[in-house]
Amino acid sequence: MYREGAPITPAGAISLERSERVLPAPIVETVNPIKALGLDQVESDMARFEPLLAESVIMGDDFLDQITTHLIHAGGKRLRPLLSLASATGGQRAATDEELLGGVAVELMHLASLYHDDVMDEATMRRTVESVNARYGNIVAIVAGDFLMARSAAIAADLGTEISSLLANTLAELTRGQVSEVRTAFQTDRTIADYDEAIYGKTASLMAAASRIGGLTSGAPASELEALTTYGAELGMIFQLRDDILDITATEGQLGKPAGQDLAEGIYTLPVIYALSDSDVADELRALLGHPLDEPEREKARSLVEGTSGIKQSVTRAKEHVALANNVAATLSSEPLRAAYSALATSLLDDIL
Ligand code: IPE
Ligand code: IPE
Ligand code: MG
Ligand code: MG
Repeated sequence: MYREGAPITPAGAISLERSERVLPAPIVETVNPIKALGLDQVESDMARFEPLLAESVIMGDDFLDQITTHLIHAGGKRLRPLLSLASATGGQRAATDEELLGGVAVELMHLASLYHDDVMDEATMRRTVESVNARYGNIVAIVAGDFLMARSAAIAADLGTEISSLLANTLAELTRGQVSEVRTAFQTDRTIADYDEAIYGKTASLMAAASRIGGLTSGAPASELEALTTYGAELGMIFQLRDDILDITATEGQLGKPAGQDLAEGIYTLPVIYALSDSDVADELRALLGHPLDEPEREKARSLVEGTSGIKQSVTRAKEHVALANNVAATLSSEPLRAAYSALATSLLDDIL
């Protein structure tokens, strides 16, 4: 049984040596959600949020503390806590401690999912630094991810049973999304429904929860809670569609990883699903896919997909989610939040239209 402050991993068991790998150039982060929101008060709240997040994982065990703060110190957009705080305050007052802690619980669950996702995807980079699995190995990354989830759950428990239960159910959805993606890996008959289910689970469900938690910590009425939740879910769908489109269309310099990585790993995203139904390239593309790809094959498959209308069709689908996000944002009670949330949803497609 875990006791508060008790060491979880004997520090001597695993090497603390830094890897000597040369890292690729830093990722150019094109999404800046704080700027897109344009709510000054939320920006000051985020400055108060940062130390709380960093402190939330410190146990006084040097090795564990180093691993659990690795990605926190590396940065990240903090999009999910931003949603929690904006949904709680509408940018019209300073966030309360409880509202800030709601954001901490959400970001910790996100972080945990990144630790686990990078093991699943064998990723070497995250937030411009070495991924935890690359630096410390898969086992450390998995148990440290579990630890971050435990910290998220403990903070959520302090915030009450409704938030605690929401986050537990969200973790189940997130895991279901990841499992669904693994189940359909390398399958050229993956459907749009398979894709939607996976991205709703792995990305949209946590953004929906992030926004809802803001409403819950601030005592919003039921109708407002539903609107905030729907907004978060739609934003998550747009966010993942954007990520998946950029994997095909962006350069390695923009992504901080080779383009076409999803294709190489057998994750056939929406542009690929559309391309596979385009008779001009379908046969050639299907012959390439279905197994891991080397670099020339990946580039061939990527450029085949890029040459179809699959990108345009995917952007159209993302725009449908922007329209849904804007519709529900328009029903929110806070006027500044209505405008800010509409600007945020629209901004996610600014550079890929
Ligand atoms: C990465 O999320 C995982 C996806 C859902 C694509 P973010 O792009 O929000 O990651 P950070 O928090 O900014 O690093
Ligand atoms: C990440 O999905 C989703 C979660 C972490 C749950 P991806 O594998 O598509 O995201 P990136 O590209 O690694 O950030
Ligand atoms: Mg990944
Ligand atoms: Mg993944």
